[in-house]
Amino acid sequence: MCGIVGFTGSTPCKDILLTGLSLLEYRGYDSAGIAILDGARGMDVFRVKGRVEGLVKLVGNTPLFGTTGIGHTRWATHGKPSEVNAHPHRDCTGKIAIVHNGIIENFSELRTQLIEQGHVFISETDSEVIAHLLERAYEGDMRVAMTETIAQLEGAYTIVAVHADHPDEIVAVRKSSPLVVGCAEGCAVVASDTPALIEVTRDVVFPDDGVVCVLHSGGTVDYFDGDGVPVSPETVHIDWSIDEAKLGGYEDFMDKEIAEQPRVVRDTLAGRVKDGRVIIDELALTAEDIAAIDRVYIIACGTSYHAGLIAKNLIEAWSRIPCDVEVASEFRYRDPIVSPSTLVIAVSQSGETADTVEAVQLARTHGARVFAITNSVGSRITRESDGVIYAQAGPETCVAATKSFLAQVVALTLVALYLGQARGHLTCAQVRMFYREMQRLPEQITAILDDTTSIEHAAEIIDGATSALFIGRGIGATTCYEGALKLKEISYVHAEAFAAGEIKHGPIALVDEAMPVVALMIKSATRDKMVSNIAEVRARGAKVIGIATQGDPDAEHICDEVIYIPAVRECFSAITASVVLQVLARCVAKTRGCDVDKPRNLAKSVTVE
Ligand code: F6R
Repeated sequence: MCGIVGFTGSTPCKDILLTGLSLLEYRGYDSAGIAILDGARGMDVFRVKGRVEGLVKLVGNTPLFGTTGIGHTRWATHGKPSEVNAHPHRDCTGKIAIVHNGIIENFSELRTQLIEQGHVFISETDSEVIAHLLERAYEGDMRVAMTETIAQLEGAYTIVAVHADHPDEIVAVRKSSPLVVGCAEGCAVVASDTPALIEVTRDVVFPDDGVVCVLHSGGTVDYFDGDGVPVSPETVHIDWSIDEAKLGGYEDFMDKEIAEQPRVVRDTLAGRVKDGRVIIDELALTAEDIAAIDRVYIIACGTSYHAGLIAKNLIEAWSRIPCDVEVASEFRYRDPIVSPSTLVIAVSQSGETADTVEAVQLARTHGARVFAITNSVGSRITRESDGVIYAQAGPETCVAATKSFLAQVVALTLVALYLGQARGHLTCAQVRMFYREMQRLPEQITAILDDTTSIEHAAEIIDGATSALFIGRGIGATTCYEGALKLKEISYVHAEAFAAGEIKHGPIALVDEAMPVVALMIKSATRDKMVSNIAEVRARGAKVIGIATQGDPDAEHICDEVIYIPAVRECFSAITASVVLQVLARCVAKTRGCDVDKPRNLAKSVTVE
């Protein structure tokens, strides 16, 4: 969950590291630090509690000419955010510095052992043991020391290390945690995620677990397996540019990423239906395979889980295959009914979410066929799954998922159409009709984003509240789960979502004048039921923000504020309504002065359990 960057070359690396860290700050932002090797001065280390901008101030105009260095931005697991717990961590000699992402599960016993041997620890982190283990193993070759060190570690890690006696070299390794390596003329770079090295190269390597990477300042990288045998990993071309990872005039990344959604929906849909047939070659399923599926499981966390809940409605409606959606952290620790006739769809924007990846592994041990829907080329989930469908969202920097969520919903909708058609429940004509309607979604989203005045007015109702309820039915209910999550994570307003039919069974006790209710009453089979539910909460004093289809005859009379959205078929309504809920959450968060891109306590990629 931390950001890591390393550079070795022939030009001073200070600015490269600081820029790289700011591009990766969405991965963690409670402390930051860099270590730079400078032949004459040894090693300079700067660390701060807080954001990268604090680190930039601390480093200030210090003349640093070293051309090899590593940097880190932290999301605390062991030890509170503080300067002393910030990375890089050093060994006792002060010559070795490391940065680490992940959790070393056996750090306590390693630490005790190292202390008994005379090593002195200064932080509360699990990561510091790595620096001391490297010190213990080092006999002149950092690659060998790294191989010996990782043999003693349990847990997940990306480790990047430097040694002052090797100022032209960086050593890096990963296990169940992200790492990307690249090189160009006269330099080599390493990072926990592609934005930090895309300016140097777009041809990158995602090394396998346990492969030790040795980066040389001349612009080459050597890769070795656990026995020290050289290996040649595949190079992957990244097809988005650095401009996509920059703000480009928007106020914040959330704003930018919400605005990109028409393009994202268009790209995710592109080329998926031909002659009335849904094309998802990535699934590589034969007609017999599809006929044999007796259950679909969607496993995911957070926002991706909500995309799965929305898809359940469509998969069951169109293919008639039972579909269960489960939070990955629950699935992996129980005994789910999974067999070779189960189709598992794992959904993860980052492709690195530890629980989701572990759940994938569990499903595969039961013989299930597993497909991933992810936004991250080369991510862990892509290696663990039988096939991958890429959500075409491009880099997402705001911690709160927006465009990646829409891309997931669109990709899952295509999978639902595919299964429905393959099982003989949807005709080519129906597929064509649905696809045509989906192709209109980008312009409908654009229409919502072109005039957000009503959303801004509605946000005023929530601004001063401490809690809000979201209610809807069917797809509207699942859309509400995501709307409530978005609101709470970026504005810190407590929000809960319920299937509207459930409120009478308890939640309505919460409703009074101080409890705003966001109600999805878009045109659907249950729209009239929603009208009654709105009346019930209003009768108890709640102010109601209604999200209704343009032309709805009642909305204005029964709601305090109405946000109208273009008419779409109910099965696609999550796509348009979610955009409204994202903008609503952002408006509330902005008014409350929250940092929408980096909400407190969160990080973009949850690579630890
Ligand atoms: C919320 C959010 C998270 C993620 C969750 C899973 O806005 O982004 O809830 O959806 O941490 O992450 P991925 O999709 O990367 O597996």
